[in-house]
Amino acid sequence: MATKAVTMEKLVALCKARGIIFPGSEIYGGMGNTWDYGPVGVEIKNNIKRAWWKRFVQESDNSFGVDAAILMNARVWEASGHTTSFSDPKMDCKECKSRHRADTLIEAHSKGKVNPDTMTNAEMEAYIQEHQVHCPICGKFNWTNIRTFNLMFETSRGVTDESQNKIYLRPETAQGEFVNFLNVQRTTRAKVPFGIAQIGKAFRNEITPGNFIFRTIEFEQMEHQWFCKEGTDSEYYAEFKSKAWQFLLDLSFKPEHLRFKDHDKLAHYAKEACDIQYDFPMGWSELNGIHNRTDYDLSRHQEYSGKTMTYIDPVNGERFIPYVIEYSIGADRLMLAALSEAYDEETLENGEVRNVMRFHPAIAAYKAAVLPLQKNLAPQAKELLAKLKKHFNVTYDEAGSIGKRYRRQDEIGTPYCITIDFDTLENGTVTVRDRDSMDQVRLDLGGVIAFLTEKTAF
Ligand code: GAP
Repeated sequence: MATKAVTMEKLVALCKARGIIFPGSEIYGGMGNTWDYGPVGVEIKNNIKRAWWKRFVQESDNSFGVDAAILMNARVWEASGHTTSFSDPKMDCKECKSRHRADTLIEAHSKGKVNPDTMTNAEMEAYIQEHQVHCPICGKFNWTNIRTFNLMFETSRGVTDESQNKIYLRPETAQGEFVNFLNVQRTTRAKVPFGIAQIGKAFRNEITPGNFIFRTIEFEQMEHQWFCKEGTDSEYYAEFKSKAWQFLLDLSFKPEHLRFKDHDKLAHYAKEACDIQYDFPMGWSELNGIHNRTDYDLSRHQEYSGKTMTYIDPVNGERFIPYVIEYSIGADRLMLAALSEAYDEETLENGEVRNVMRFHPAIAAYKAAVLPLQKNLAPQAKELLAKLKKHFNVTYDEAGSIGKRYRRQDEIGTPYCITIDFDTLENGTVTVRDRDSMDQVRLDLGGVIAFLTEKTAF
């Protein structure tokens, strides 16, 4: 059975060995919690982003994409509240000088039974004192008080020191969608309700990053804001919950590995909020968020920019600032979930264990591998490869026994292996081997493109 054989150590090792994900800046000893996607990984991540974009922009009746700048006017982050309240409660161990999040310490100590989201800083300090929560690094109990730590990365612009202005690397992509609300509405002539989506990098100076690509300081978000009229917001909130859930099922996630978790403490602007959690190798954790953000964001941008964010209904002339339903998911976090969902160790009849990544074919790096049974069949195999490359990302392998080549493709999740053998020369057919069942069928060469098109669609 898939997934439960998986551990984070196995995933990290497989990713490194198979060109999926490497530690960042490795030859210099690494750079804490940064990761580089390799030749196979970049294809999988691009496919994940493509599947999301197709579903939430291209197949949506009334959603539009943007690609906003990472560096935004610093006033954006004042309006959004990030400069004042985008912070984590940090505590330092006075003994070993390691830094920790108070809420994470409490969650770990209580084994998830206590929810620190609902606690004030004073309550968290009291809990840590009362329960003698020790430093997970050195085991001592000697903490500083909680201090808040803003998560935004600062930088500056300007040529001379005097003209330097503090700016930030965006901590979320959402603000690029909010500030362009009227630009998009005007140029598309969209009527409320409509959506704006964006995929892009975000940066957070996380105190406790970790768990591979689960929480990193640089990551990609896929965010979708749905602008709607007050009164219809709760209905759309429910709709986006089910759309987000269905997207994961369609990517072959098992429902028993997913669950909704309502937020216990709502952000000051939120009317309703929940996460979809996934059963990651380290336990149930947030995969994506869905928020009813009310008219908070557009109202704040109207206030701070002095520019109207009012929508005028073309039918009845009614003026209002729309409510926003936000659906936000990290591309890297979804990648980690997809990796752990796909991971399987299957014991074969002969007792051998094969490692197989059972990705949905649409997100697999290669849709097929073309394998000549023997090296002297390479010309025919390369002819087919060239034809398939016009339609799909496909790979080629002529090194080693056919069994070993199948295993290599299983390990990176290639759904189909197409073998050119001597019958191909005789009757123009190839063997197509299915990654999951290992069943083999013979197909006419002329039918391969239609077969792969049908089998790998999303
Ligand atoms: N605009 C709303 C927002 O940014 P969030 O819950 O902070 O909300 C949304 O982030 C999603 O982005 C999360 O559900 C997660 O998938 C991803 N994410 C957040 N912080 C991350 C990090 N440090 N590393 C990787 N992914 C992260």
